Amino acid sequence: MIAAWLHDIASITDYSLYELHHIYGAEMAYGILKEYGYDDKKIPLVQECIKNHRGSIILDRNSIEELCVADADAISHFDSVPSLLYLAYVQKGMGIEEGKEFVKDKLLRSFQKLSARSKKLYQNKLEKVMEVLG
Ligand SMILES: [Fe+2]
Repeated sequence: MIAAWLHDIASITDYSLYELHHIYGAEMAYGILKEYGYDDKKIPLVQECIKNHRGSIILDRNSIEELCVADADAISHFDSVPSLLYLAYVQKGMGIEEGKEFVKDKLLRSFQKLSARSKKLYQNKLEKVMEVLG
């Protein structure tokens, strides 16, 4: 849960860190968790979840918690389609077709990043969203 809260801490604190936010985020989490007296034995576990949360970067996931954070990150896109549309049309200023393809591509990539188990759970939702987007 703590890793889920902190997994994007670097990119939301300083967007210039985005490309390596999984690395910087793990470092920032260390400082935060130490400051709040979090169990020293658990801090590296939280850091591993943060380091390995990015589906676009293929890394070994060594615990169920790492897998959960990575899957939840990708799954969140299926529950926030309106915000992806806002990103495409408002923030990126895309036209109708370009924005639609942007969102579809983002969702397909997110789906591909999921574990086999989560793919089974989200296959139907992917199909529905794709049907709506056309
Ligand atoms: Fe992230």
